[in-house]
Amino acid sequence: MIPGTMDKFEYKNRALHCDDISVADIAQQVGTPVYIYSAQTLLHHYRTLQAAFSQLDLTICYSVKGLGNIHVLKLLAGEGCGFDIVSGGELARVQAAGGQASKVVFAGVGKTDEEIRQALTAGIGMFNIESEQELENLSAIAAELGVAAHVALRVNPDVFDPKTHAYTTTGKKETKFGIDIDRARAVYERFRDDEYLTLDGLDLHIGSPIYSPGPYVDAIKKALGLIGRLGEVGVEIKVLDIGGGYAADYETGESPPATEYADAIVALLKDTGLKVIIEPGRFISCNAGVLLSKVLYRKQGGEKRFIIVDAAMTDLIRPALYQAEHFIYPAKLAPGDPAPERRMNFAPPDSEVVDIVGGVCESSDVLGYGRALPPMSRGDLLAVFSAGAYGFAMASQYNSRPRAAEVLVEGDSWRVIRRRETYDDIIAAELVE
Ligand code: LLP
Repeated sequence: MIPGTMDKFEYKNRALHCDDISVADIAQQVGTPVYIYSAQTLLHHYRTLQAAFSQLDLTICYSVKGLGNIHVLKLLAGEGCGFDIVSGGELARVQAAGGQASKVVFAGVGKTDEEIRQALTAGIGMFNIESEQELENLSAIAAELGVAAHVALRVNPDVFDPKTHAYTTTGKKETKFGIDIDRARAVYERFRDDEYLTLDGLDLHIGSPIYSPGPYVDAIKKALGLIGRLGEVGVEIKVLDIGGGYAADYETGESPPATEYADAIVALLKDTGLKVIIEPGRFISCNAGVLLSKVLYRKQGGEKRFIIVDAAMTDLIRPALYQAEHFIYPAKLAPGDPAPERRMNFAPPDSEVVDIVGGVCESSDVLGYGRALPPMSRGDLLAVFSAGAYGFAMASQYNSRPRAAEVLVEGDSWRVIRRRETYDDIIAAELVE
């Protein structure tokens, strides 16, 4: 197992377990599709990052958008973790989980007036501001409420990782995110004396996932250059938020361990005296979750064989949206079958090559193309691995499909942390006169 991406999903007695619990036992009681998260894995990843960056004055703000279930947030809040949010809804989640508002950072290009009021009233730690006009608006609302807002400008450093999918690249000039680095100094100077703003932060988020430390190093060097130039004109930056994007292993072996990022980043920042924030999402939650589904049917079209399962793009949209590949394998092994090595081209003996598809009326509703699996039958369980981040969080009710249940496993016990939706949930908001 690659260091830093350890997870607690393992085959014991030919059955897939999460921590100490057989996932089939969960399916039997909760049904499928179901997301199953390992608390031990979530905490392991959080602590791994904390240890790797320990030489810095660091706050980890877990990115709520990856996996925002309040029970997961509660687990992390219990460790002293802060939170990166992008909406009032995410702030409500953090508050419901008992997270500390003072450790919340709020990014996003489209914060509404209501969300700004909500965040100021809650007393969040920092606003990551993405445009000059947004900063004007924040100042006006803070004045109206008679409070001061702590602010970082999200600077767009024009740095990106060419391996990051175009849909999740954010640090390039032509994306909608952040303030152009060439404009940033003027904005700091314009608002430096604003009575209702404490403008001493600088924020970066260059995209996700970023597969190597290089792009962070490039972006941080640019940020430090700007911080130096701002210092010369008397604008002191005290907080540097370097964003998220630390990769997780989607079964390609490409994800570097936390230390590889940290070693490069810590070397640049340890003598700066800056308070540092990181905003990991998937590094913490991706490998901490599987999506478990049941085989409904098999069929053949031309030469192609299909396995049709009860999970679909409505449960996990990443393959359809980003051509993402998740390792998929049965939860139960036949006698004599080896436990799978988690790599895309793993082929067990007697395997057949199949497309694994859902029941939604879209041709893109495919969870995995051309996968070598042992022969599957109706009722067999299939696990989609590394589905903890941007899995349930991006689920929809398209085709009026109730969203899946979520389960949290803590060692030898487990509990439902989100019940399966019902048809009543689907129509509830429409029951208006
Ligand atoms: N901070 C900010 C400001 C972000 O926008 C994001 C992610 C993160 C932190 C956390 O990124 P992470 O560490 O999880 O990579 N749905 C896509 C990912 C979209 C990411 C959006 N922003 C996916 O499934 O890959």
